[in-house]
Amino acid sequence: MHEIQKAAQIIREGGLVAFPTETVYGLGADALNPLAVARVFEVKDRPLFDPLIVHVADLRQAENLVQGIPEKALRLAQKFWPGPLTLVLPKSALVPDIVTASLPTVAVRVPRHPLALELIRESGRPIAAPSANAFGRVSPTTADHVRDSLGAKVDLILDGGPCLVGVESTVVSFAGKTPVLLRPGGVPLEEIREVLGEVEIHASTAQAPQAPGQLPQHYAPRTPLRLAESLEELPPGKRIGLLSFRSPSSPYPFQAVEVLSEKGDLREAAARLFAALRRLDGQNLDLIIARPVPHEGLGRAINDRLFKASHK
Ligand code: TXA
Ligand code: MG
Repeated sequence: MHEIQKAAQIIREGGLVAFPTETVYGLGADALNPLAVARVFEVKDRPLFDPLIVHVADLRQAENLVQGIPEKALRLAQKFWPGPLTLVLPKSALVPDIVTASLPTVAVRVPRHPLALELIRESGRPIAAPSANAFGRVSPTTADHVRDSLGAKVDLILDGGPCLVGVESTVVSFAGKTPVLLRPGGVPLEEIREVLGEVEIHASTAQAPQAPGQLPQHYAPRTPLRLAESLEELPPGKRIGLLSFRSPSSPYPFQAVEVLSEKGDLREAAARLFAALRRLDGQNLDLIIARPVPHEGLGRAINDRLFKASHK
């Protein structure tokens, strides 16, 4: 049987399939099957109060899951789907409570990766999928990352190569009267603003890398990570790794250096971010120092992930 058909059958039978999207790999289950969705939470060790994104093949399939799509949300969907945009909308009765953590809203998105779209179409089901990593850890951007973190707990891993965008989708909520950016991601805020005008930004997203705030740990490597504007005052006698946007002026005194984009391209940096964090995490370091990237375009999503990874 073709790999996709096998994967689709697993979804229909209530199993779990890890699959590539253009952002990160997802851990998918039939969104209409509460038991299958429960397994997603169990395998990830994810708290039940953190709702999942439901992946659909097109706008029409999204319409079944929501009570209606306001005009502004429709404009975003038309512009960015398929793509790295998630819309939070009032849910229809079809969506089980476990998917939305009992919220009256559901998060939906049409991914752009052909394997993701084929899996949704072939299974005939909307697919609930968080990133395919243990809760709070670095998201997977290759099938090997998924194998490393969830491996045997997943029924099948579809390998679609490395994810091209590399950071998760931008999440915009239409739960209230005005749209709110809940998570910066693969569609830059500037492009959302072009469609919506000024957008409210939820307080939990890092508006600037140096913004204070107590956030739950997320996207975190096991090695402590510090987000640092300057490379002064490094702790002496420690094995330190550097995550740098462009090449540092000197690799000294670092045990390991990961450069996100030699040429200073934020898209390339986003695509490489999570793999670079994983490589640093595998080097037995005492500390990872991450430098913030320019806070524009995909840089907002990168800084948001680094900021959250640094808060334990
Ligand atoms: O790019 C992505 O979005 C990836 C790929 C697999 O599609 N998925 C992903 O899922 O990042 P996850 O579970 O790691 O993040 C989903 C985010 C969480 O921050 C969650 O709280 C939020 O979406 N979310 C889901 N449903 C929501 C809802 N009804 N209201 C508000 N936030 C919601
Ligand atoms: Mg995640």
